[in-house]
Amino acid sequence: AAAAAVWFSAIAAVLLAASTIAVVVVAKMTGKRNGGAAAAAAAAAEAELPLPPVVSGVSLIIPVITRGPMAVADELYVKLGSVFTVSFLGVVKATFLVGPEVQGGFYSRPESEVHQGGTYRMTVPMFGRGVMYDVDVATRSEQIAVCFEALRPTKLRSSTVTMVRETEEYFAKWGEQGTVDLKRELDLLILTIASRVLLGKEVRETMFADVVASFHELMDNSMHLISLCFPNLPIPRHRRRDTASARLKELFSRAIQLRRGSGRAEDDVLQRFFESRYRDGRAMSNNEITGMLIALVVAGQHMSSSASTWTGAFLLRDPKHLAAAVDEQRRLIGDDRVDYDALTTGMSTLHRCIKEALRMHPPAPALVRTVRRGFAVRTREGKEYRMPAGHSVVSYAAFNHRLGYVYRDPDEYDPERFGPERKEDRVAGKFSFTAFGGGRHACLGEHYAFLKMKVIWSYLLRNFELELVSPFPEVELNNIMLGPRGEVMVRYKRRKLTST
Ligand code: HEM
Repeated sequence: AAAAAVWFSAIAAVLLAASTIAVVVVAKMTGKRNGGAAAAAAAAAEAELPLPPVVSGVSLIIPVITRGPMAVADELYVKLGSVFTVSFLGVVKATFLVGPEVQGGFYSRPESEVHQGGTYRMTVPMFGRGVMYDVDVATRSEQIAVCFEALRPTKLRSSTVTMVRETEEYFAKWGEQGTVDLKRELDLLILTIASRVLLGKEVRETMFADVVASFHELMDNSMHLISLCFPNLPIPRHRRRDTASARLKELFSRAIQLRRGSGRAEDDVLQRFFESRYRDGRAMSNNEITGMLIALVVAGQHMSSSASTWTGAFLLRDPKHLAAAVDEQRRLIGDDRVDYDALTTGMSTLHRCIKEALRMHPPAPALVRTVRRGFAVRTREGKEYRMPAGHSVVSYAAFNHRLGYVYRDPDEYDPERFGPERKEDRVAGKFSFTAFGGGRHACLGEHYAFLKMKVIWSYLLRNFELELVSPFPEVELNNIMLGPRGEVMVRYKRRKLTST
């Protein structure tokens, strides 16, 4: 984890350096546009407040490398409190908000004050023009609302049958016993489910292999520091990324043609995109649909695959929690109810096992935004600070999830902390658990992600004895989103769980 944090810090520093100059200019322009008496009065009141304590980013480089940024962040937090600024030569100022009490400043403020900014510029060449971070905030909100609607729990009820079927078919290809790289297997199965539930039967049945290859090519050539900071740099990797994105758009366009040509309506997200309308009554164009489909698969794939693999690694390391999860499946088999209701209300133990893996290893370990219009923030210690325009703000979930006053024994894998007696994700405040973000940009795929991860793990627990044969995984260092590093080898043997 420390090594991962080193990696993250390096990313954050460079990212912030790359984006802040532009942000300061934008913030200054915005400040001018936001003139007027009310704004001036608010600015004057806020100007009275002190800035958060500052520490030199340069002075942290050696400690971060030698002791790891989690330890350094901890030290700064103990010394400076829950809001502090790391300044890189006065050019980049990254203010860390630590703990649930101050996360509202990050998650709940309007886009005009706290802006997603340059962080997601890297997705424009991936998703293509005209969608998500290539369009203005109002249009993006409408596009996100369409996705939100398409992935509502009521809409996903019927998709559960499809998820279960894909999962059964996938594992039918495993032998009686054997050894597999669980990470690779889960990644492919998750993409298989996504291709059916999001992209539709045309993709799944007529072009799946091509989509898988192009998707991997897209991800392999996008998720790097260089792409994060300079997404348009003309390097071979970016050319491969652009080709893969264009190929995916071509394949999805063909799927759209097939669907429209068939005259049939299907039960998937593609269909919901067809039927959606912008506020002005306009339908989504083919280009927008293909871009949004890429966006959804990109947003969910690595995150879900990382969380599912960590869940497996923790369960297979810990007989007590594994036994509890298996017992729950045994009880459910008794009721013969592996359906939507069982998955959503009956599998609370499995749900907590996955959630705990996400707490310990949030695949998006930190999020960065930029302050466009200054605001005040009150710390847990009762101090009030001014967050000026131009600062970057950082919500460091990987660190926040390990705070001892929020989570008891935070370095222990202990799913029961989320149980009704302890509710550790709630007691200290609603932003205690932010693996799915929160507030106005909270993940819209959370329900879908949990559903498919539970379908998969429910199946594995009921049908296989599993044993982790490679060492417990380290954290991946070479990727922008974190996950388990290398192969996660698991020995399996078929068994049929019988009800008690
Ligand atoms: C374990 C799985 C997942 C995790 C941990 C996760 C995590 C997150 C996080 C942290 C954010 C907030 C980003 C921010 O505030 O800047 C987010 C947003 C988002 N997620 Fe997920 N996600 C997961 C699965 C999915 C899936 C499966 C989909 C779609 C099928 C999805 C679609 C999105 C979208 C579209 C947003 C942007 C929402 C907005 O900006 O309003 N996610 N996710």
